[in-house]
Amino acid sequence: MSTYALLNAGRIIAGPGSIESINEVVTDLGARKVLIISDKGVARAGLIEKPKAILEAAGVAVAVLDDTPPEPDVEQVNAILAAALPHGAQAVIGIGGGSAMDVAKIVAVLLNNDVSLRDLLKGKAKIARRGAPTLMVPTTAGTGSETTPNSIILVPEDELKVGIVSPKLMPDCVILDPELTVGLPPAITASTGMDALCHAIECYTSKKGNPFSDMLALKAITLISRSIRTAFNDGKNLNARHDMLLGAMYGGMCIATSSTTAVHALAYPLGGKYRIAHGISNAILLPFVMRFNAVGNEDKFCDIALAMGLDVSEKTPQEVASVMIDALFALNRDLAIPGDLKRWNITEADLETLVEGAAKVTRLLDNNPRPMNKADIRAIYSQLI
Ligand SMILES: NC(=O)c1ccc[n+]([C@@H]2O[C@H](COP(=O)([O-])OP(=O)(O)OC[C@H]3O[C@@H](n4cnc5c(N)ncnc54)[C@H](O)[C@@H]3O)[C@@H](O)[C@H]2O)c1
Ligand SMILES: [Fe+2]
Repeated sequence: MSTYALLNAGRIIAGPGSIESINEVVTDLGARKVLIISDKGVARAGLIEKPKAILEAAGVAVAVLDDTPPEPDVEQVNAILAAALPHGAQAVIGIGGGSAMDVAKIVAVLLNNDVSLRDLLKGKAKIARRGAPTLMVPTTAGTGSETTPNSIILVPEDELKVGIVSPKLMPDCVILDPELTVGLPPAITASTGMDALCHAIECYTSKKGNPFSDMLALKAITLISRSIRTAFNDGKNLNARHDMLLGAMYGGMCIATSSTTAVHALAYPLGGKYRIAHGISNAILLPFVMRFNAVGNEDKFCDIALAMGLDVSEKTPQEVASVMIDALFALNRDLAIPGDLKRWNITEADLETLVEGAAKVTRLLDNNPRPMNKADIRAIYSQLI
């Protein structure tokens, strides 16, 4: 086994009502002037008012940029950076899902580094310094971006989403308040929750898996499996929302020490070319990629099946793997997630571009537990169109 490391946010405050501690956290960061980066959906849900009011009551100057688009591209992020510059913020607060948090993380870094976003995305430059101090407040239970060193941005000319990965992107603080997620609509609860489940399952089966990610992944799988249907059907159930938010953060911590694999690699061109939401493309791909990955990895699949709470008594490892894959198909059906890509009108003619796009994501494909070549990738996409 090679060495392994767990990178984590500096401070995590969790539990219902934990948003009340935002002033204490910002004070600790040494900031009297902050910038909140969020999006219109989060603003409409009324999730910015309370933290803003708490901070202002304590004398902190607060600027809000709430125009992050879903899954932003490079120029959209550059526009947010340009709007951020005049504020002279001493700390950046991301309130939202992965889109807002990823933008907050990279904007904080760009405020402190003389480098272009496009060069970072094209691998032509590296992040030299940490950025302005950051606080992340997730309002979806999905990406776990609050505890990852990643920021994922669309590069339109390449029709691909690209991950900038650097320890300097790891947030300083996290507030994990499930009360902020009770209004998340069922469809977004489902897609973002399945993204979190993908993180945990992929990191557990990844070649980069290690004792840290194993512990976090199995716990995340348990929390998400037991609560995702409840959170979908009864959004106000705070226990289920708490499980989901914790499971999603553990999934993010897994990404920080292990890595996702072929599910995320094959999802990237679906987001990049067809703008299919990150959680949806991952959820659709998950059972198909796991069917491919199960061969030779049955023991790990048995662990996952047990963490999912499945009854696998008196079954061979191969049978358990197949029970687990069936359970993933059933979960997608229960959450009203499409079983294929037919509604996006992707045809045979598009396959080549998709395969080439996915094959470029070697950062993730190289960690897949079973080697996946272009013919394998094509076979998986073919089952979905
Ligand atoms: N940094 C990472 O490690 C990492 C990991 C996985 C994915 N990602 C990236 O994260 C992005 C996806 O993030 P996401 O899945 O969280 O979705 P998102 O941030 O795009 O949000 C989806 C929608 O939900 C709305 N929303 C968020 N919270 C809400 C709430 N509490 N109530 C009502 N509406 C709410 C938003 O307004 C938005 O319209 C993608 O770009 C993906 O590539 C990043
Ligand atoms: Fe993801």
